[in-house]
Amino acid sequence: MQPEKNIFLIGFMGAGKSTVARYLHRHYGMEWLEMDKEIEKREGMPISEIFRLKGEPYFRERETELLLSLVGRKNMVVSCGGGVPLRHQNVEAMKKSGVVVFLTARPETILERVKDNHDRPLLEGHKDVEYISQLLEQRREKYEAAADVLTATDGRDTEEIGNEVYTFLGK
Ligand code: S3P
Repeated sequence: MQPEKNIFLIGFMGAGKSTVARYLHRHYGMEWLEMDKEIEKREGMPISEIFRLKGEPYFRERETELLLSLVGRKNMVVSCGGGVPLRHQNVEAMKKSGVVVFLTARPETILERVKDNHDRPLLEGHKDVEYISQLLEQRREKYEAAADVLTATDGRDTEEIGNEVYTFLGK
């Protein structure tokens, strides 16, 4: 039976949202939406260029627009951009149509996962534990308030996390 609800994966950059979403898609046949990829497709340019040419507020508007367009959909796993839970309107939209799962990771784990990637404008020039910890602490309250459920990803494999997250659909 296909789930009626959606799963929204939230968390900091490098928390493993895309990896877990891909697993839920492949293993449980959920429809997979990668918010960053969808916005890149719609805008015809990479996230870094959207930030550079149009600015962060423009990008944040596109995120909200995309989330609102998902209301009414079912059986989706949505890998949210790391900034999505910072807006109340986004949180309301997610809660209306699914379970919000906060994937956590320690700053050291995050750094390890993001250090060779250059697609995240907010981390360029700041690839260090101090900066990541600071931004994470600034956001933690919002992430926790948005989440229905939370799971730690440090040192765990995708299969274990993905299977656990799938059980959250029953919540
Ligand atoms: C951002 C996270 C990124 C992307 C953009 C901003 C953020 O997504 O949306 O670079 O504010 O945390 P990922 O969390 O998928 O890396």
